[in-house]
Parts: sequence; structure tokens; C-alpha cells
Amino acid sequence: MNIAQLQQEIIKLKKEKDVCILAHSYQAREICEIADFTGDSYKLSVDASKVSNRNILMCGVRFMAETCKILSPEKTVLLAQPFAGCAMADQMDKPLIAQVKERCPDHTVVAYINTTAALKTICDVCVTSSSAVKIVNNIENKNILFIPDCNLGAYVAAQCPDKNIKLLNGGCPIHACVTPEDAQKAKSLYPEAELLVHPECVPAVCELADYIGSTSGIMDYAVKSDKKEFIIGTEISIAEHLQYMCPDKTFHILSLKLICPNMKATTLVDVYNCLNGTGGEEIVLDDDTLRDAKRCIDEMIRLGE
Ligand code: 13P
Ligand code: SF4
Repeated sequence: MNIAQLQQEIIKLKKEKDVCILAHSYQAREICEIADFTGDSYKLSVDASKVSNRNILMCGVRFMAETCKILSPEKTVLLAQPFAGCAMADQMDKPLIAQVKERCPDHTVVAYINTTAALKTICDVCVTSSSAVKIVNNIENKNILFIPDCNLGAYVAAQCPDKNIKLLNGGCPIHACVTPEDAQKAKSLYPEAELLVHPECVPAVCELADYIGSTSGIMDYAVKSDKKEFIIGTEISIAEHLQYMCPDKTFHILSLKLICPNMKATTLVDVYNCLNGTGGEEIVLDDDTLRDAKRCIDEMIRLGE
């Protein structure tokens, strides 16, 4: 089967089997084309909770599929590619954060959604890159322990000067590898272009940017802008999607370091195999994890409205 035939088979199978397909914006173009919803991690988690399908198929990484399961425990949630984890989500586990919490009992624990379901059970509220500033501002407590991404945390701290934000040494190894020198080089190669970056980049790179935002934020900004040329400082798929969406504009990638192997692991064949029952993985979480992690995600939705 060629790509178009495979896509047709997937569309047929998902209808037959009552499956809603979600694709994070870092997924390949041919996967986004067959998805019912695409977007950033916040949008996908809310979309998934509203659909009536009995089954959800996540084309993204494991924590995103876990978030869908937490929000829709009655549904069957499948992860198209079982190897697709997130290097940041795997950095901090529940025993480590339980120890840190003991040392700062007066702090509200704010967990980036890029964390495991098990870790979410002992946190107070989740945030995504698009909702972090708003949610932290809406928390009554002044003292915040922000985990795991110290770069997103530093960005939030700069936007919320009234808060006392404690950070740990975690982060996305893909975004954090980009240096200010990479950003300066791209800016001098494309002097007319605006630099748009994800807040998972280090503060010295964010300082050079014209816009800092989530994957959806970057896409919306570029689509609506009157400017014609952009350097995209997040996973390289975003530059590719934008180039198709806005053929009259030009999109450059900030660095070849911005390729996430986990996000690139899912193929159209994985999606097909998952739908025909020969691949993928069903996300199974025990009742205690579902209940305790949901508190943290419900708080995210409440404080983010
Ligand atoms: P968004 O929250 O912008 O979708 O980002 C998810 C992610 O994994 C970024 O690396
Ligand atoms: Fe995780 Fe970074 Fe990949 Fe996003 S880009 S999924 S934070 S490893």
C-alpha cells in the first residue's frame, strides 16, 4: 500500500471501530492528515475529554495518552507507538518528588503535563506550556515548586514576579540543546525573519526571540502575523506544517538539534497496526492513580479557564 491507500484504510477502520485519532503537532504530516484533532498537549487533552467515541488513539508520546486515559477512564486509550516516551517526563519519579516535597511543605507543587501519571498523583496542579503563566498566577499560594522543566519554570517565574518559584534541574534535552550561538547564527543567516521559540528552550535563547509560546501559540502567531519569514525554535515538524499552511511565507528551522526521536517514532503503519489490533498499546492505569492524577488535571482545567 502507498501512503494515500494506507490513509484511506485508516480512515475506514477508525469509523468502523469508533476511534478518535489525536495527533500532537510534532507528528508527521501524513499522520496529522488522518487525525480528528491536532494541536498542543493542552488542546488535545481537552478535545479527548469531549469526544463521544469509545476509543482514543494517541499519536504522540506516552504522557499524552496517559492524560487522555485520566480524563476519559471509561474509554479505551491506545498509544500508537509503545516506544514513544518523553525524555523529560522520565527524568523525575514519584519517590524523588515525595522527598523534595518533604523539604518544602509550604509550596504548591506545579507539574508540567510532561510528567508520568504516577508522579501527577502527588502534585497539586498540572500546567502545559500554553497555560502555565495563567495557572501559576491563579494559584493563591505565593510559594511554588515547579517541576520538572527549569527552562519553562524560569520563563513562568519571569512572567509571575509576585511568586516565589523553586525549580529543579530538569528539562527537555531536545530544546535545551539549542544555544544562544545557534540562535544568533540563524538570525544572521535570515536577518528579515522573526524568531519564534518554545519556552522549553534555555532562557538565553528565549531572550533572543520575538515570540515565546507553545506549539499552538507559535503556529497561531506565524499564521496571523503580517511578517513573511520566520525561524522556528521548536521541533522541526512545526516548520514543515507551517510551510504547507502558509505557502506565501518562509519558515526556517532554528537547529537540526530540534528533532525529537520520541515524537518521530510513530509511523502511519503504526497507526494502521494499532487500529487492526496488531500493534500499539492500551494504556492501563490503576484506580488510585486515575483518581489522584485526575485531581491535578482537573485543577489545571479549572485554573486555566
Ligand atoms: P506543547 O505543550 O507546546 O504541546 O509541547 C509539548 C512538548 O512535548 C514540547 O516539547
Ligand atoms: Fe518530551 Fe522534549 Fe520530545 Fe517534547 S520535545 S516530547 S518535552 S523529549
